[in-house]
Amino acid sequence: MQQNTQTTRGNDGLFAVGSPVTHWSVQTSNPVQYEIRASENLLDPLNPTILEDAVGTTGLRRFVVTDTVVDSLYGERIRAYFTHHGVEHRVLVLDDGESHKSMDAVLRVAKAMDDFGIDRRREPVIAIGGGVLMDIVGFAASLYRRSTPFIRIPTTLIGLVDAGVGAKTGVNHNGHKNRLGTYFPADRTLLDRTFLTTLDDRHISNGLAEILKIALIKDARLFDLLEQHGTGLLRDKLQSPAAGIGLTPADAPVGQRLAARGLHLDPATEVVERAIHGMLEELQPNLWEKVLERVVDYGHTFSPTIEMNALPALLHGEAVAVDMALTTVMAERRGLVSAYQRERILGVMNRLALPAWHPQCTPDVLVPALRDTVRHRDGQQRLPLPVGIGSAVFVNDVTEAELAAAAQQLAEVSVGANR
Ligand SMILES: NC(=O)c1ccc[n+]([C@@H]2O[C@H](COP(=O)([O-])OP(=O)(O)OC[C@H]3O[C@@H](n4cnc5c(N)ncnc54)[C@H](O)[C@@H]3O)[C@@H](O)[C@H]2O)c1
Repeated sequence: MQQNTQTTRGNDGLFAVGSPVTHWSVQTSNPVQYEIRASENLLDPLNPTILEDAVGTTGLRRFVVTDTVVDSLYGERIRAYFTHHGVEHRVLVLDDGESHKSMDAVLRVAKAMDDFGIDRRREPVIAIGGGVLMDIVGFAASLYRRSTPFIRIPTTLIGLVDAGVGAKTGVNHNGHKNRLGTYFPADRTLLDRTFLTTLDDRHISNGLAEILKIALIKDARLFDLLEQHGTGLLRDKLQSPAAGIGLTPADAPVGQRLAARGLHLDPATEVVERAIHGMLEELQPNLWEKVLERVVDYGHTFSPTIEMNALPALLHGEAVAVDMALTTVMAERRGLVSAYQRERILGVMNRLALPAWHPQCTPDVLVPALRDTVRHRDGQQRLPLPVGIGSAVFVNDVTEAELAAAAQQLAEVSVGANR
């Protein structure tokens, strides 16, 4: 703590003696550590992972939140798991889907936590569901008694590779995407790819869009994997016999770890690992987003507006794909990406059953969308554009004319491809 006057300090170092104090400056830090771990078949009663934080504790209680779809598919197993372990539990079931990602849902969770009488030191809330559910529950946990720990168990691909691994919570508000929210990472995220077996193809594609984002901005090998195996990954819902080799953010890059262990990964496992590892490499040094130039914002400049305008027609990842297609064309027009690379990128989107264009891709929508993003990014565009495949650059000089021309070109090149 610093004062703005040169004075004698008391023994506690806080108070000035003999001089008026007009200004205090408080500094503190709040180091954060959280764990992300892969484990298959989490709901198997023989798998102790979900309750691992409470080994040896008696009289366990857990408050679980899920959504209607996940409850219909896994609700019985969720309840049976806690019953098997003698854990007193309550399962709150929220309506599913983006249109229910609202403050009302957050308040519903907070009330149910209160009714359950949750102990905010010893009873982490457990969120089992997709990105929407985890964002709502995380937000409620961050608010309830100013912070209550929570555990995320993502059940969608977006949840596994993106919403489940970062620090952000939030809900839509006043017609804007994620307008209210907090930075509040879960204590633990438990990744179980077997949940994806019940997810429909469209939602698998939706998650593959966020994986493609990481590939385009920083991982050419990941792009090659998506290009070579995209169709199979989609068909097999990223399942593989080698699933679950253990993911930890501080580990060495995937290739090194594997080489050290003499292992060869199947494409699905390598794709999921690389995507999470790449995401965490970007998030860890900038978890609170003090630095606004974030390559992981690629695909997230125009997409929030496109997604909200098109709701419920476009899923989150689909809107991100449209944004990435548009910005790929912009990059091509600036000579950052070749026509061949643009073709490959749109080709991979096609293989992953992602849209590369949407009727919202008009200057009427894109110009205000960019303006809104500029406000979000402290007055500058900070627009990530791909450089070739696997690298990115930030630009601040996009004009309305450039946007209109790129939108027009995208409409032309995506005809007959993957519109
Ligand atoms: N917090 C973050 O950092 C972050 C990052 C990326 C995305 N997000 C948010 O995540 C949301 C998108 O996530 P999402 O795509 O998971 O959406 P979602 O949570 O709406 O899930 C999609 C649908 O799949 C259903 N579902 C969930 N698991 C299932 C399963 N195993 N089998 C069958 N159906 C299942 C859900 O009930 C829902 O109907 C967006 O709101 C986005 O803003 C947040």
